[in-house]
Amino acid sequence: MSRSNFLTGIKSTGRPHLGNVIGVIYPTIFLTKLTKNEKFQNQLILIANLHSLTNFKYIKNNKNNAYKILAVWLACGIDYKQFIFYRQSDIPEVTELLWFFSIMYPYNRLRLVHSFKENVKKKQIINTGILTYPILMAADILISKAELVLVGKDQLQHLEIARQIAKKINNIIAKKIFPLPQAIVIENLIPGTDGTKMSKTKNNIIDLFASKKEIKKQIMKIKTQKQFEPNKVLKDNLYNIYIRLAGKENKEKIKYNFQMGYEHAKEELYKLIINKFKRERTLYKYYIKKTKKLETIFQKGAKKMKQIVNSTIYEVRKAFECN
Ligand code: TRP
Repeated sequence: MSRSNFLTGIKSTGRPHLGNVIGVIYPTIFLTKLTKNEKFQNQLILIANLHSLTNFKYIKNNKNNAYKILAVWLACGIDYKQFIFYRQSDIPEVTELLWFFSIMYPYNRLRLVHSFKENVKKKQIINTGILTYPILMAADILISKAELVLVGKDQLQHLEIARQIAKKINNIIAKKIFPLPQAIVIENLIPGTDGTKMSKTKNNIIDLFASKKEIKKQIMKIKTQKQFEPNKVLKDNLYNIYIRLAGKENKEKIKYNFQMGYEHAKEELYKLIINKFKRERTLYKYYIKKTKKLETIFQKGAKKMKQIVNSTIYEVRKAFECN
């Protein structure tokens, strides 16, 4: 069996939250342990520190935010020597691919992408980077010829664009440079405090690595129904968050906590979170201070990544007679 590359990525917009940990970090650790040395040739973890810049507020702290992401991966117990951690900006070939890919994709179709349309609704000024966001992501994916890409559901459309671009290039140059990447999507995600997908921009996150006081505040913010109704429990957002963390086997205990009132249930959920992630919280505090070590991991990652991208970029330049 030929071994393929695995890739996942997180945009550097601050410390990863509970949704990232449950939706990306734990599944990556689980999956790569499961397939140990059998399936993947390279296991790549990208810090998308160019994608973050489409929102100017993330220019400041962009460097530190990349460290924070790595520190959270380490705190969650990843065996980092088995992975290549790299920052997007350390591999300028990615932005070179962005150009070759841009000419391959119709502008009108980019305007129909969900994430773009959402931005149009929210913002007055839309920079070109927001439009070409999916193309940069296609470059991230195809530059390493990754065949398996772990993403959230909301990223599936972007992955489809990467597949379309791969097909088109292979077609035009009549050579199979790129394999078609497949998505691994984690279902059963944990909802945000307002019941929609957990996301920093929606201000509905639970930040596992914040101060206890801050975590408590976030939990107290969780929207609930006016009154607890035992037979409508599945519609209850607080219940959904709680059960996702406590596990189905604790259903009865959770229901009991709800019967004692929402306030009590939130208090118990808070205790559960602090307890469950005690080790991770301690480790995070340790790693985030080790900037030198974090930087070394990125430098080593960039070096290995260069070797992986070299042959791809050589093939692409040649195909476009830019060699
Ligand atoms: N756009 C992704 C997100 O916001 C992050 C990302 C950028 C990514 N490039 C990637 C994820 C490549 C997987 C592969 O979640």
